[in-house]
Amino acid sequence: MADRFETLAVHAGAEPDELSGGVSPSIQMSTTFRQDGVGKPRRGYEYGRSGNPTRVALEAAIAVLEGGTHGLAYASGLAATQNLLYLLDPGERLILSDDAYGGTWRLASKVWSRYGVTAEAVNLCDLDALAAALGNGPAARMVWVETPTNPLLKVVDIAAVARLAASAGALTVVDNTFATPFLQRPLDLGADVVMHSATKYLSGHSDVISGLLVTRRDDLEEKLRFHQNAAGAVPSPFDSWLVMRGMRTLAVRMERASANAAVLAEWLVGRPEVSRVYYPGLASHPQFELATRQMRLSGAMLSFELHAGEPAARRLAEATRLFTLAESLGAVESLIELPALMTHFSVVGSPLEVPAGLVRLSVGIEAVEDLVADLEAALVASAA
Ligand SMILES: Cc1ncc(COP(=O)(O)O)c(C=O)c1O
Repeated sequence: MADRFETLAVHAGAEPDELSGGVSPSIQMSTTFRQDGVGKPRRGYEYGRSGNPTRVALEAAIAVLEGGTHGLAYASGLAATQNLLYLLDPGERLILSDDAYGGTWRLASKVWSRYGVTAEAVNLCDLDALAAALGNGPAARMVWVETPTNPLLKVVDIAAVARLAASAGALTVVDNTFATPFLQRPLDLGADVVMHSATKYLSGHSDVISGLLVTRRDDLEEKLRFHQNAAGAVPSPFDSWLVMRGMRTLAVRMERASANAAVLAEWLVGRPEVSRVYYPGLASHPQFELATRQMRLSGAMLSFELHAGEPAARRLAEATRLFTLAESLGAVESLIELPALMTHFSVVGSPLEVPAGLVRLSVGIEAVEDLVADLEAALVASAA
């Protein structure tokens, strides 16, 4: 019988070192490799940009966890995104979640647009809107799904989007950063490529910037592997090792953080200062049923708004003790931020603009009672 996810997370890519038996994968820092003869690299390694054993171990591990056959590692999530966007030719169109990570939109709309690629933001929860967008304008080559979305936690039906995209000849890419393969496996649902900011849950400790791609398609892997080497945005061997170390505890961290987030979401709903809570695990969430079907747990990201609006949200974010006021997400410690003024500042005035007073939490693995107490004290302070 096949091993379960929790077991794979611990063991994937982590064969004991052949020389020493070390159970932690070795960090191979060498940038070049001795060849057995002219043009005869030993085990395929010739130069560190084109291949490195530590990076290969990480790539094998993420491929296993996502249920893919090929993994590719990059120096950041956006470097992975850039590598994927190289698949687009001038004149082609990228359809993107209208609530995607701001940096993805910025790369597509401000950089790729200069090379003749059009980026279009569509609400991917509305399948009719997607069908219309696929049928209109220049060839849509790629549909970029983020689910749950950042920061409004909308949930997109991956299988339905992948079917529509395929019938229009477009690739489906899923940014699986928020859910991770523990909660959601996009390739099983028909996606062509999964992308990760491994900076977040996969590494899980706010100490490495990294990105990953996974696919089952040999034709895509060949192109992506070529881009990986040709453009060169690869992670260092040490960063590859850090991400792998984080991935070994992914299942336990996600279980704990998701459980904490579920408690906090219910608690926030009951607070008089709070006007709206965005969390896929709440029965009131518009895609609650889909989220329950598509995700093993509801995840550890949640957003909310206050009756008193942005000034109170700002005071709240500056008043917490345990929730650190910081960008990023997905690590052991809880974070708080105001997307409109921080992570999503680059999308102000674009179709991806988010509510001004929105507060986003990345819920960590602390004791949930302490997190509740911290938020309670900050809510009271922010209302004063
Ligand atoms: C959902 C999502 N995708 C992609 C990225 C970009 O990844 P990186 O910061 O590792 O380049 C981020 C970063 O915050 C993100 O939250």
